[in-house]
Amino acid sequence: MEGRKRQYLEAMGIPVWTQRRRAGPEAAESPGERDSVAQMDWSALATAVAACTACELHRTRTQTVFGTGDVQAQWMVIGEAPGADEDRQGEPFVGRAGRLLNAMLHAIGLQREQVYIANILKCRPPNNRDPRFEEVECCEPFLQRQIQLVEPRVILAVGRIAAQSLLKTVTPIGQLRGQRHRLPGCQIPVVVTYHPAYLLRSPQQKRRAWEDLCLARSVVEDSG
Ligand code: URA
Repeated sequence: MEGRKRQYLEAMGIPVWTQRRRAGPEAAESPGERDSVAQMDWSALATAVAACTACELHRTRTQTVFGTGDVQAQWMVIGEAPGADEDRQGEPFVGRAGRLLNAMLHAIGLQREQVYIANILKCRPPNNRDPRFEEVECCEPFLQRQIQLVEPRVILAVGRIAAQSLLKTVTPIGQLRGQRHRLPGCQIPVVVTYHPAYLLRSPQQKRRAWEDLCLARSVVEDSG
């Protein structure tokens, strides 16, 4: 698709789907390395993420933000992308939104250290703009491998971008909430909730977010 048409669609908030091409980690140097992300252990994966230059975001990042928490967690929390605090500290959800996320987890009886937290993107988009389709596509093998390694009983997708990217849909977040989804291509349940940054702006939605956490908890309990 020509650049101008793509720009219009992106400006209107319409996701631009293009034919899958080799990108990101899958564009890695040799054919033998392309599939290798799917075979990596934690240490190799972290090294690959730290060295990634697959999309333009590597030019503006301070550092990559890999993920944190219990690698055998029952809950995996997936957000959108690092913000300024995360870019500085190298850890997801450490700013104001992160403190609210911690409080939300605490309310449901979980310490931050008991869950695994990651993002759709490992690098901060400049000025916290929305991730672009090709950036999400570049980072996807890394996140997929993290999910495979953790094997969580539930994924809590926080925010529209995380939910739509994980579920490969453009359905609005309001319609994605309140249901048990499945991660495409595997059986891992996904529950969608609002992003804590949105909840900071719209605290009246916290009641709904609490309902989502309760749903996620019941998904974990049902799978036990
Ligand atoms: N917002 C996110 O989605 N992820 C972070 O790590 C921080 C803020």
